Amino acid sequence: LDDRASEFGIEVGVIGGSGFYEFIDDPVDLEFDTPYGAPSAAITVGEVAGRTVAFLPRHGRDHDYVAHRVPFRANIWAMASLGVRSVFGPCSCGSLQPDLHPGDFVVVDQIVDRTWGRDATFFDRGAPDDAPGFDQPLHHQAFADPYDPGLRRALLDAARRVGVTAHDGGAMVVINGPRFSTRAESRWFREMGWSVVNMTGMPEAVLAAEAGMAYASVALVTDYDAGVDGHEPVTMDGVLAVMRENIARLRDVLEHAIPSVG
Ligand code: ADE
Repeated sequence: LDDRASEFGIEVGVIGGSGFYEFIDDPVDLEFDTPYGAPSAAITVGEVAGRTVAFLPRHGRDHDYVAHRVPFRANIWAMASLGVRSVFGPCSCGSLQPDLHPGDFVVVDQIVDRTWGRDATFFDRGAPDDAPGFDQPLHHQAFADPYDPGLRRALLDAARRVGVTAHDGGAMVVINGPRFSTRAESRWFREMGWSVVNMTGMPEAVLAAEAGMAYASVALVTDYDAGVDGHEPVTMDGVLAVMRENIARLRDVLEHAIPSVG
């Protein structure tokens, strides 16, 4: 793996929807195995805006993994093995606030983790003796500020240059899914002042932190969750339609952000 890292000189990773394949020039697919099993798909390495980028479709090439089954540890391990030091994790989300609308982008700065039952650490000393992680030293990841400020800045500057609406900051509630939230859950999240809701933001962010990688997410608002301000509650078809309409703009934001990664 080290040979591959030096061979490709990969600078930036992107873990996102399968709509990103289109922006990679001269793609090469790298198959991986990790101590945590296979990642969601082969990692595609190629050029984006003059930088060498490693891309991994979070849900697999053909949406093989629902949110709570994504092999998050294998995905982060594979990126780290390639020598990737900075990762963008674009995602979709529902709005919890009346000023956040479908088609807007939110460069979130906080997380409320409502997931459960996911493998959320590499430092798993409670695991059986032969499981990867058991032999790691005791470690509690610092996570007060879960996103890298430099990568967040790169995303915000890119969004401004592309001319899309991008909100600076906000807490993303990560629910376990695969169901959407009830009205009561959604009202609770809104009344706490949290901004958006999603299903994949964790444990991706904390695993990247444990692996020593800079990580930031840009969340595309696709819906009003369980019905902010009297809007219709979210449906899967609605989410997919807004994603389709906005994937080119999201790609554009990343294409502008990637060259400014330090
Ligand atoms: N992804 C996109 N919209 C969502 C919502 N309303 N809840 C959870 N995840 C989402």
